[in-house]
Amino acid sequence: MRDNNCAKIIIFVPSNHYISMEKPHKRYLVTSALPYANGPLHIGHLAGVYVPADIYVRYLRLRGRDVLFIGGSDEHGVPITIKAKQLGVTPQDVVDKYHELIKESFKNLGITFDVYSRTTSAIHHKTASDFFKKLYDEGKFIERESEQYFDPETLQFLADRYIIGTCPKCSNPDAYGDQCEKCGSTLSPNELINPRSALSGSKPEKRPTKHWYLPLDQYEPWLREWILEQHKEWKINVYGQCKSWLDGGLQPRAVSRDLDWGVPVPIKGAEGKVLYVWFDAPIGYISNTIEIRPNDWELWWKDRETKLVHFIGKDNIVFHCIVFPTMLKAHGGYVLPENVPANEFLNLEGDKLSTSKNWAVWLHEYLKELPGKEDVLRYVLCANMPETKDSDFSWKDYQTRNNSELVAIFGNFIHRAIVLTHKYFDGIVPPAEALTSQDNEVLAQLPQFKTQIEESLEQYRFREALKECMNIARMGNKYLTDSEPWKLAKTDLKRVGAILNTSLQICAQLSIAFDPFLPFTTAKLRSILNINIQPWEVLGTPDLLPAGHQISLPELLFDKIEDDVINTQIAKLMTTEAPTPTPTPVYEPQKDQCTYDDFAKMDIRTATVLEAERVPKTDKLLKLTINTGLDIRTIVSGIAEFYTPEQMVGKEICILANLEPRTIRGIESKGMILMAKQQNGVIRFIAPHEAQGPGCTIS
Ligand code: MF3
Ligand code: ZN
Repeated sequence: MRDNNCAKIIIFVPSNHYISMEKPHKRYLVTSALPYANGPLHIGHLAGVYVPADIYVRYLRLRGRDVLFIGGSDEHGVPITIKAKQLGVTPQDVVDKYHELIKESFKNLGITFDVYSRTTSAIHHKTASDFFKKLYDEGKFIERESEQYFDPETLQFLADRYIIGTCPKCSNPDAYGDQCEKCGSTLSPNELINPRSALSGSKPEKRPTKHWYLPLDQYEPWLREWILEQHKEWKINVYGQCKSWLDGGLQPRAVSRDLDWGVPVPIKGAEGKVLYVWFDAPIGYISNTIEIRPNDWELWWKDRETKLVHFIGKDNIVFHCIVFPTMLKAHGGYVLPENVPANEFLNLEGDKLSTSKNWAVWLHEYLKELPGKEDVLRYVLCANMPETKDSDFSWKDYQTRNNSELVAIFGNFIHRAIVLTHKYFDGIVPPAEALTSQDNEVLAQLPQFKTQIEESLEQYRFREALKECMNIARMGNKYLTDSEPWKLAKTDLKRVGAILNTSLQICAQLSIAFDPFLPFTTAKLRSILNINIQPWEVLGTPDLLPAGHQISLPELLFDKIEDDVINTQIAKLMTTEAPTPTPTPVYEPQKDQCTYDDFAKMDIRTATVLEAERVPKTDKLLKLTINTGLDIRTIVSGIAEFYTPEQMVGKEICILANLEPRTIRGIESKGMILMAKQQNGVIRFIAPHEAQGPGCTIS
């Protein structure tokens, strides 16, 4: 095992200076993965990325550091176009909806981005486009032509997801070009048997297409040195994943796609091509910085004294540790990330979180159903953060952590100290005149807590840091219990004053220590203590509340969570059904053109069904007697699989009246009923929008 514990790791920086990690940087640029705007946020996103990132930046701000916290929505990519198609709306509609929902939920959970923008913004399109153009002009890409599937009907190249065919592993007839959802295999479109286009249903053809590739292989020696030698302090899960990518050998990666949703490739002859979403999205960090700091953004991205930190989930490691740094290096002038503290995954009640199976706790629902409990969620997600391995969220654990930690330790200590101060001193901080060694021992521990919490936070060990905060409250509780001021009230009020003064100083300390983690609670605590927000540096110096300072009335910081609340949430989870996945529709290709005259020859009109019966010895045929307004006639129709005779009687339908009569099973059929066939093969008859009666002509 590598030693990750050392707080004073000496690291090598490109300017040939050795600096200690403890020396503060001039500025901190903190990014968190831009979530795809094609669905709401769930607790997995929060525990993996946004809660730790927010804790980190709140801590830095409290320390008075110059920080920018960059967020935003990732609004390009094939999944967004597919979602739009399924919903029958445009990709822009999809991202507009989810961008707002995501942005609002972040705000309500207290995630304090300095900017939350989006990759469809004009600034982003320009930034990403210019970035590509510079690399292109300098010959940093390689150009390659390859054979890709092309839809001859819709005249476009098909993204892997848009190709459907039979899975070579399990024979599922509806596997996608990148994955079979039945057996879970990762596929490439070439492996599909009988591929067809999800857009038109037609058989795709292979056609040559040109793309630009980032030659990662050329950067491999540099990456090995930069990561494996110079960043041994990265988290073990991150370092390990990088090492295995590098050991496996890097290949050139395509940075463009044939697609009409994204940032257009800004060169001549590249019509119909956009930047690959993983090329443009990380540039979004730069665009969003430009958006809020148009005048000095370059200082944030190009000055060596910036510390750049990317918060991400483990599925993003290769893009943030290998691909994006290579892009920045190839471009030149940019700082590189100093750390990429990626987390592993959070499970829910023992099972993998799954959007498609609806196995998730959705943030916007949580905020609505459990109002005022933002910090409880922040606390539980931090206490269980999947820092080095996957972890689990369960509602029982949520309840236990609330009731036996937040309520019983933190909340209880504060409440006791405040209530006793009101009881014996009318809410006025008593002087600390009769301090004993017992008090001094407790006070002496505070600077140690400060150091430990800082060390943990600087090394992205959020669970450990939170535990230390709770230990301060634990210490306070024990101190109050051991010193029993209530027993001394009659005999030694001075001593009671000393104990309560000490306790109140600990309360003030807690309002600082917990602030990055539980910002709603510490705001409430400050209002109870009647103090302003304090800088981090006064943590460890327990003299924030001078004798004579008036505090406010007690108020509970946390409420006990009863079983019914938890049971409701568990029941909701157990009964949520996966939304039936809307299959990507496969459309019938359009028929050959016809003239208006061809159409006008057809006599289409409304009719009413008078009688209906099955045609004997067939499964599919119904014999219908209909009133066309002109006459009463018989039509034989192949709809018996979908309608019973009883269902048809009385129905208004549309018919092609002048179709040449045919004899079917010995019955003369005069005309044809018009039916709509769905993509799944089900047919439905066509009826006038409102009752019209028989004999209306249709044109
Ligand atoms: N949208 C990606 C995901 O959710 C993350 C993009 S991070 C960025 O996995 F760097 F590309 F922005
Ligand atoms: Zn399969």
